[in-house]
Order: sequence, then C-alpha cells, then structure tokens
Amino acid sequence: MKKQIVKTLALVAGSFALISMTIVKTNQNDPWEVPEKYRTMKNPYSNVKDSEKIGYTLYTQYCSTCHGENGEGDGINSYLLETPVAKFTEESIQSQPDGSFFYKIFTGRNEMPGFEYIIPVEEDRWMVVNYVKSLK
Ligand code: HEC
Repeated sequence: MKKQIVKTLALVAGSFALISMTIVKTNQNDPWEVPEKYRTMKNPYSNVKDSEKIGYTLYTQYCSTCHGENGEGDGINSYLLETPVAKFTEESIQSQPDGSFFYKIFTGRNEMPGFEYIIPVEEDRWMVVNYVKSLK
C-alpha cells in the first residue's frame, strides 16, 4: 500500500517536472518575440538620473554573474550555461527598444531567469533597463 503511494507521488512529481520543462524551454535559436505592447512601451524613466545607483547595484547583484561586469557576456556563470549569454556591448542587442529589454528581463526564457518577482518595483526595473542601455 505504502509503496503504491510513493510510486504515485513519484509519477505525479515526474510529470510536473516534464510539463514545466516543456513550457519554459523554447529553442534558443528562435527569435525572441516581444509583444507589441512592450515593443512600443515608453520608458517613463528614460531621462531620470539614477543618483542612488539603483541600476548599477541591481545589475551587479543579479546580472553580472552571467552577463559580466561590463556586459560582455563573460560572467563567471556564463561558462556553465548552454545558451550564449547576450552581450550588451553589441549594436544588435542595443538597438532594441527599451520596452523590449523591459519585457525580456522580467519575463525571461530558457537560461535567462525572469526577474518579475525579484525586482518588483517599477522604478527599479527601469533603472536596470537604463543601466543595461548604458553598457554599449
Ligand atoms: C543565469 C544567467 C543569467 C542571469 C543571472 C541573467 N541573465 Fe540575462 N540572459 C542570459 C541568457 C543565457 C540570455 C540569452 C537567452 C536567450 O536568448 O534565450 C540572456 C538574455 C538577456 C537579455 C536579452 C538580450 C537579447 O537577446 O535581446 C537581456 C536584456 C538580459 N538577459 C538582461 C539581464 C538582466 C538585466 C539581468 C539581471 C537583472 C540578467 N539578464 C540576468 C543569462 C542570464
């Protein structure tokens, strides 16, 4: 009887893992589509000076381990990933609208974690976007 319960639980856990993997995993070679709403979103903080260095602080804490201190895609964890880490020094990355960065940073995909819950404050989020934009 007990064995049966354990087996069932293992099966349930296993299928959950499988479901979540199929949802999160998209082909990294596919273009990363950004919904229109975000592509055209205006950055309300584009001209705001980050005197408290919020963008820098959050970037150093949460992003540089993969993207590198200067955004070269060479952070210490980048070597452990299967997906090439985006380089913020590249024009092809920098030419995107601010709203696309906003979407990608807070949604994530594959090995790029979504920061929706880790950085919940709207102003802080845009400060991170501004900081990433400044790395070109
Ligand atoms: C665990 C490693 C990791 C961390 C931590 C991480 N990223 Fe990423 N990031 C990635 C990878 C890998 C990609 C490429 C994902 C893809 O193309 O599927 C990526 C992609 C991106 C992109 C999209 C670039 C493009 O292709 O247009 C942006 C913007 C970005 N990251 C910003 C950030 C910011 C800002 C933070 C911190 C708040 C952060 N990332 C933290 C690994 C990471």
